[in-house]
Amino acid sequence: MDVSCGFQDSYRHQMTDWTGAGRTTAELYLRMAGHELHGISPSYEALCHAVSDSRAVCALLDQLPSGKRQPNLLLGAVRFLGGPVGDPAAFLSFVTSGWDGVAETMMTHRTQTNEPGRCATLLPLLASLPQPLALVEVGASAGLCLYPDKYSYRYSTSRGEHRLGDGEVLLSCSVTGPAPLPDHLPEVLWRAGLDLNPLQVNLADDRRWLASLIWPEQVDRAERLDLALAVVAADPPRLDTGDLLTDLPGLLADAPPDATVVVFHSAVLAYLNKEQRNRFTEVIRELRRSRVIHWVSNEAPGVISGADLDPRPQGRFILAHDQVPVAVTGPHGHSLAWVP
Ligand SMILES: C[S@@+](CC[C@H](N)C(=O)[O-])C[C@H]1O[C@@H](n2cnc3c(N)ncnc32)[C@H](O)[C@@H]1O
Repeated sequence: MDVSCGFQDSYRHQMTDWTGAGRTTAELYLRMAGHELHGISPSYEALCHAVSDSRAVCALLDQLPSGKRQPNLLLGAVRFLGGPVGDPAAFLSFVTSGWDGVAETMMTHRTQTNEPGRCATLLPLLASLPQPLALVEVGASAGLCLYPDKYSYRYSTSRGEHRLGDGEVLLSCSVTGPAPLPDHLPEVLWRAGLDLNPLQVNLADDRRWLASLIWPEQVDRAERLDLALAVVAADPPRLDTGDLLTDLPGLLADAPPDATVVVFHSAVLAYLNKEQRNRFTEVIRELRRSRVIHWVSNEAPGVISGADLDPRPQGRFILAHDQVPVAVTGPHGHSLAWVP
């Protein structure tokens, strides 16, 4: 694991510039505390305030490449190393006294939060496509979103609950608007993922890293992660190491001809700059010359060209089908507001 990237993956995610470009380290941590952690993770909010006030820790972080200074990476690294996250003074002392280990962990890891809850927001769209499906996820992390057919769902609507599936991982989602809630789970004939650094559900360190990326107060997400890891570990996906800009054609070449191909991604294209995002659109366009491909994106507003809404939803993602917005979604899958 060795590439610098990551973004602040939170309910309030608003395209924070995760590279930290143009901000001092102190500003980066202060912004994280006020904009993303406030009201959600009091413990991390206090830690980020403490870091922004600590010249010593900011000076250490400044030794790292700018993309590696990001708060979620430092916080995850300290958790991963078993450091204290409940007391700001103890946290700062752990970071300064154990800096070599902290820096090494930050340099060799990346923020790769894998949120299976996002399947609840993808499901209605996936189930509405001709079945069976060949699912290809770019930026798959450990591939937990490749298993929408293995989870169960509880959708809360104004007309009551809509339940689906009997898998052990129950994903709850509140729904507004005319979402086509399906009666059947999608049929997944083939699934595969692509990531710069795929995580392996059967590797203890990778599982622990994924758990370390969940903020301490988000106990429900941690429990869901554990359950989903167990489901996926029983039948791990094919995960290729590669770049979504260059390695998608090779992966797609193996998709079975008798399935509807869906290329999807969530919380991924924010890692790319504008020019790279445009190139990805070209990649999809090129692939479509030889095969029908459904492109499903679940990204922050403004990330996918054409797939935007006015006004832009705050702290939400936009679910789009072939660059046409179909819903506004909770970034961790907790809500789905179908666009009428
Ligand atoms: C925040 S995680 C999201 C994982 C998963 N899509 C989900 O929704 O739970 C973003 C993932 O995108 C991957 N990624 C970022 N840029 C990439 C690229 N150019 N090609 C392939 N994967 C990339 C990262 O390694 C990381 O695993």
